[in-house]
Amino acid sequence: MSFRFLKKRKPPFYDAGRIPVHIGVIMDGNGRWARKRGLPRSAGHKAGAEKLRNVTEWCGNLGIKYLTVYAFSTENWSRPSEEVSGLMSLLIEFLEKYEPEMAIQGVRLRVLGDMDSLPDNIRRALDNAVQRSVNRQKMQLIIAFNYGGRREIAHAARKISEMITQGTITPADVSEDLISDNLYLPDIPDPDMIIRPSGELRLSNFLLWESAYSELWFSDVLWPDFSEEHLRKALEDYIHRDRRYGGVKS
Ligand code: FPP
Repeated sequence: MSFRFLKKRKPPFYDAGRIPVHIGVIMDGNGRWARKRGLPRSAGHKAGAEKLRNVTEWCGNLGIKYLTVYAFSTENWSRPSEEVSGLMSLLIEFLEKYEPEMAIQGVRLRVLGDMDSLPDNIRRALDNAVQRSVNRQKMQLIIAFNYGGRREIAHAARKISEMITQGTITPADVSEDLISDNLYLPDIPDPDMIIRPSGELRLSNFLLWESAYSELWFSDVLWPDFSEEHLRKALEDYIHRDRRYGGVKS
């Protein structure tokens, strides 16, 4: 299937079986985008939030069911306090500003991360937005906020240890499925593809367990410059990947 074909014939003409069900995105490069324009880093994050709004809409139109975006990592607390508080405010602004269009577009919102150590107002805003969206069915936007892959795996390990201590399971019951079932959002399928713009070639603690067989797609484009063409190119590349999951070509 050629890129041009994808462009001309929009879904439902896509081969639904080959489109990724779940895409993860590491929204990187906001700071560099701002610096190139002589703007403060906060302007880059604002442009990045606007891009998230666009990408959510494009993914919905393309038939992607789950979009997980890395908005704030467990390591991002080490940034200057003004940047951290700016990102917290931007989250609240994003949830308020785009609520009406997410409702129209049928976007259900989920949050992935360590909610317990977030400030109360942020947790409440997230909880409210998640609750309001619970019946929307077109796609799910999963915001990874105060998220770290290692922290998520530690969280699962702790829950499983408690089950062992309580005697509901034994150590022999600990399996890959049991660990998956005790991650933050066990009902979300593993990502088929992870996109990282900005030229960095690493996962940076994003979806470590879930990405075992994800296809990785990297580009030098900075996140605020990411376009629908980039998304379509990533999808075209994905469609041509040979996913063998450790097996052999059939
Ligand atoms: C990494 O790029 C980006 C982040 C840590 C923040 C990502 C946040 C957004 C895209 C805004 C949307 C967020 C919300 C809260 C809805 P960087 O800033 O480190 O870029 P750099 O590597 O070029 O400095």
